[in-house]
Amino acid sequence: MLTTISVVVPTYNEKENLEELVSRIRVACDHAGIDSEVVIVDDNSPDGTGAFAEELARTNKIRIVRRVGKLGLSSAVVEGFAASSGSIIIIMDADLSHPPEKIPEMVSILESGEAEVVVGSRYVKGGSVENWPLTRRLISKGATLLARRLTKVRDPMSGFLALKRSVIEGVKLDPVGYKIGLEILVKGKYSKVFEVPIRFSNRKAGKSKLGGGEYLRYTDHVIRLYEYRKPWLAKYLKFAAIGGLGALINTAILWTANEIFFVYYLWAAVLAFCVAVTSNYALNRWWTYRSKGSVPRQYSQFLIVSVLGLGLNLALLWAIVDQAMPALHIARDRASVYLVIANLIAIFAVSIFNFVANSFWTFRAETRRI
Ligand code: GDD
Ligand code: MN
Repeated sequence: MLTTISVVVPTYNEKENLEELVSRIRVACDHAGIDSEVVIVDDNSPDGTGAFAEELARTNKIRIVRRVGKLGLSSAVVEGFAASSGSIIIIMDADLSHPPEKIPEMVSILESGEAEVVVGSRYVKGGSVENWPLTRRLISKGATLLARRLTKVRDPMSGFLALKRSVIEGVKLDPVGYKIGLEILVKGKYSKVFEVPIRFSNRKAGKSKLGGGEYLRYTDHVIRLYEYRKPWLAKYLKFAAIGGLGALINTAILWTANEIFFVYYLWAAVLAFCVAVTSNYALNRWWTYRSKGSVPRQYSQFLIVSVLGLGLNLALLWAIVDQAMPALHIARDRASVYLVIANLIAIFAVSIFNFVANSFWTFRAETRRI
């Protein structure tokens, strides 16, 4: 039986690479008895890649999706999926960094049922990258490390993948950023993934479109994927990180107001509390809950929760120091660390209280979406 595969290739200014790419894909697939179509998703490249693709389509099996402007790599791939028809999908770059000659091997692994996703990998035995400068190698390794707990794949950044269509059918893929492969590895429906070694060559012509902003966007993407996997843990960690920052802000304001501006220390403490609560609220609204709700309502609720939390903190501290410790015969000697430990326990408990109260009251509309 002849397998039909769709090779989805996003392009932006790749006119000079396209002909060689298409012909190498065809030769490799023809040799292996694979029926292939190339799906080119072009974002109205100024160099005329789109028109050139139309020309190539006269003599090759090519589908072209032309979009109005540069809308991004991941969304291009997602549109390519929709326009493709094969039961097996390959994703690859147009710049000849990914060797088309590897496609038959990847397809045969899918067909044998050994895996539903195959990654063209630089970081398994036999894989390599062609003379990358040290900085790009380090960045690539760092990025890979960030994704460690999301997937066991050694090269989750790879842009060269083969998959069965069933892996992405009915899956809502977030088309942000550059890492559509990572998105598929995290959200796709598959049980086994296999990595085949590739040599990643430098692009033959044209320039990389990966700019500085991509690193930030990548970090954001990875955080979103962790949230997808463990929504509550991720939200709590964000909430706690913001709380930690709030404690620093609180301390800085208290010190400045009292030591520099001679504000009575209890008033300084009230001021410090208010500023920290405000910044905590703003950061949680924007980062933890990504909320667009009414600020006055949320802010007053957040303030109430924080005041209750402060009260709870004192009550817990009292319960531990004055009730639990004597009952357990823990004596507080001079300069002991018990008070600090008691306070840390209280702070942890209060952070959970604040988190739960804000999640289910202040930001309940956002929480319902989890
Ligand atoms: N349609 C469309 N729209 N295509 C795009 C866009 C876009 O906005 N941006 C980039 N492309 C196309 C390029 O034309 C190329 O075919 C492919 O996407 C990859 O772009 P490059 O600019 O060559 O990316 P890179 O070499 O820096 O990154 C590649 O290697 C990384 C591994 O280090 C990509 O494969 C990454 O996904 C991969 O992580
Ligand atoms: Mn490239």
